[in-house]
Parts: sequence; C-alpha cells; structure tokens
Amino acid sequence: MNTDSDRNLPEKIPQHVAIIMDGNGRWARARGLPRLAGHRAGTENLRAILEASVEFGIKYLTIYAFSTENWSRPETEVSGLMRIFKNAFGQELRNLHENGVQLRHIGKLDRIDTPLQQKIKDAVELTKNNERLILNIAFNYGGRDEIIHVIQEIIKDGRAPEEIDDELINQYLYTADSPDPDLIIRTSGEMRASNFLVWQGVYAEWYFPTVYWPDFGKEELRKALFDYSERERRFGRVSPGDA
Ligand code: FPP
Repeated sequence: MNTDSDRNLPEKIPQHVAIIMDGNGRWARARGLPRLAGHRAGTENLRAILEASVEFGIKYLTIYAFSTENWSRPETEVSGLMRIFKNAFGQELRNLHENGVQLRHIGKLDRIDTPLQQKIKDAVELTKNNERLILNIAFNYGGRDEIIHVIQEIIKDGRAPEEIDDELINQYLYTADSPDPDLIIRTSGEMRASNFLVWQGVYAEWYFPTVYWPDFGKEELRKALFDYSERERRFGRVSPGDA
C-alpha cells in the first residue's frame, strides 16, 4: 500500500465513509461479460479504494458487500459472489493486517456457509487490535434487519422502556463501535438507500457519482471528498449566520 500522505486533499476529511458499491452487473454487461466478471472487477477496485482511504486519512470505511435481499439473486450469482468473497478474504487478509486495517463484520452470520463464516471470524479476531482504518464489511446485512435485531436484544436484556434512547440503541447496533457515517457514496447513478445504515445514516451527506463501481477509483474518491468538504452540515439546526 502507498502510505505517502497526499497533499491534494480538502482540509475537512470525513471520519466515516460508507459505500454502496453499485453497478458491477452493468459494468460487465457494457463489455459483453458475465455479471460475475463485474463483481471480480469490483473486488479489484475495492483494493484500490481501501489503499486510497488509508492514504486520505479516512478512519472508518463501511462497504455494502451483500444485502439480506441479495439472496434472491439467481443461485449462480449468489454462489459466485460467495466464491469471490472467500478468495478475497484468503488473498487480501495478510496485506490488510500488515497495513493496520481492522476488519469488522456487520450483519448476520447465519445462512453464510460454515467455512466462510469461519474465515470472517478469524479475520475479525486477527485484526482486532489494528487502528489505522476500521473496515466494516456489511455482509448479509439489512438496515431493517439490524433494527429488528436491536429490539430483540433490548427485550432479551430486560431493558425498561424509560431506558431506551438514542445512545442505548447505538450500543446494540451492529456498528456499535463506529461513529455514524458522515458521507455515504452510491455509485452507478442510482439514488436510493436500499436498506443500508437505516438508523445510522439519518444525517449523512449523500454523494451519487454516475460511474459504475469498478470505475470508481482513487480520483473519484478524491472528488467525493472535495464535494463533501463544501457541504454545510446542519443536523436539523440553522446556519450560524441565520441564527
Ligand atoms: C452491486 O452491483 C454489487 C454487489 C451486490 C456486490 C458487491 C460486491 C463486491 C464489489 C465484491 C467485493 C466485496 C468484498 C467484501 C470482497 P450490482 O450487481 O447490483 O450491479 P447492477 O446494478 O449493475 O446489476
């Protein structure tokens, strides 16, 4: 990984960037390739974006790798994606660990086959003390599923209704140890949340580049950061000048 600090950056860098990596299928179709070739190209691109994120000083990166709804895709695509994830974990883990990346899984492990579950658990364990970049992998993740999980766990723990507030809910989310995302990027021109970070994303800034995910490289990420740096985040309040 290139770790040289990069000067051509805005002053205000979002602490937490989340990405919906959309458009792999269309990227492949535009080249007359099978959809899985798009997912492979998307995986290659993820490596580049991880490197750029470290270099740009982003502290938390959350990626939407597989949603609770993605199980409804054709069986060949689902099994192909699982193969790609397994290979990527095998090939990239050492490199990520050596570069100080901490992997966290957000979502449910059930339905994922046992060897892949084990790989995910081992990767989380191996990297748990790394601090350079926290990489949350949303895998078998859905925002509504997460909220249901939170409610179930709160009831199981016998919490009283008066105890329930934002802070308590934050503690039960899959992302419990990450701050809310500052910037959510969805590639490919689609402008939907698609069940991603439903609770956490309420005050995120959104950015919708039209390029497909395999083409969203380092320079595209830089553009997104510059765009973000121009935004005025009010969190429901008014601008200081209007007070
Ligand atoms: C959306 O494109 C992409 C996905 C559902 C899969 C994303 C997965 C990767 C990029 C693989 C890398 C991840 C890891 C953790 C190794 P799409 O298939 O919906 O594209 P389309 O809308 O053009 O059909």
